[in-house]
Amino acid sequence: MSDSVTIRLLDKQDAPAYQQLRLQSLQTDPDAFLSSYEAESRLHDTAFVEHLDWAYHPPCFGYFGIFVNDKLVGYIQAGKNFLEKQEHVGSLYNLYVSKEFRHQGLASRLINHVVGLLRQEAEIERVFLSCTARNPAAYKLYRKLGFKRIGVKARAIKWNGQYDDEIEMVKLLLE
Ligand SMILES: CC(C)(COP(=O)(O)OP(=O)(O)OC[C@H]1O[C@@H](n2cnc3c(N)ncnc32)[C@H](O)[C@@H]1OP(=O)(O)O)[C@@H](O)C(=O)NCCC(=O)NCCS
Repeated sequence: MSDSVTIRLLDKQDAPAYQQLRLQSLQTDPDAFLSSYEAESRLHDTAFVEHLDWAYHPPCFGYFGIFVNDKLVGYIQAGKNFLEKQEHVGSLYNLYVSKEFRHQGLASRLINHVVGLLRQEAEIERVFLSCTARNPAAYKLYRKLGFKRIGVKARAIKWNGQYDDEIEMVKLLLE
């Protein structure tokens, strides 16, 4: 039987599964995120409930999870802009797919699903995201999905005495 893949917004009920996957992601891929395992492992369980709840603005904004046979294996955050002058702009953060589920197109499905929702349901015209210069996998993925590099924030990251650059990218949904 083939695996069933579903994508949906995560709500407060998903907090335990999200917390587990989030802490896993900060451990397996510490350089991919601006936060750290050291910081988030100290948080109380309720903080993860609050993270999901604060971001939750259905149908388009919040943390989206991708499930394989009902197991949460990846997530991405679609951030809502509350400023009136930026209601046409969407932002994506915090993409992760669990190591054993990579190279199956799951991140691509997750991003395409969320971008489609942003375009159709929220009239978003351009979607911004960024990745670190030392993350070629993410950069290649975003390029493949139609994101274009628009700039670089040189040395915007400093962790354990090492600098990294942040590459800013955009996908235009309306030319
Ligand atoms: C980046 C990440 C989300 C990709 O997830 P995934 O489900 O394996 O991605 P997909 O299977 O949809 O890959 C689609 C394309 O992305 C690119 N890509 C993905 N992983 C890659 C890798 N390790 N090296 C090079 N290119 C890669 C390829 O172009 C790939 O297309 P292909 O399979 O035809 O070669 C995953 O590796 C991950 O969670 N990494 C750690 C966290 C992270 O870096 N998040 C991004 C923060 S900006």
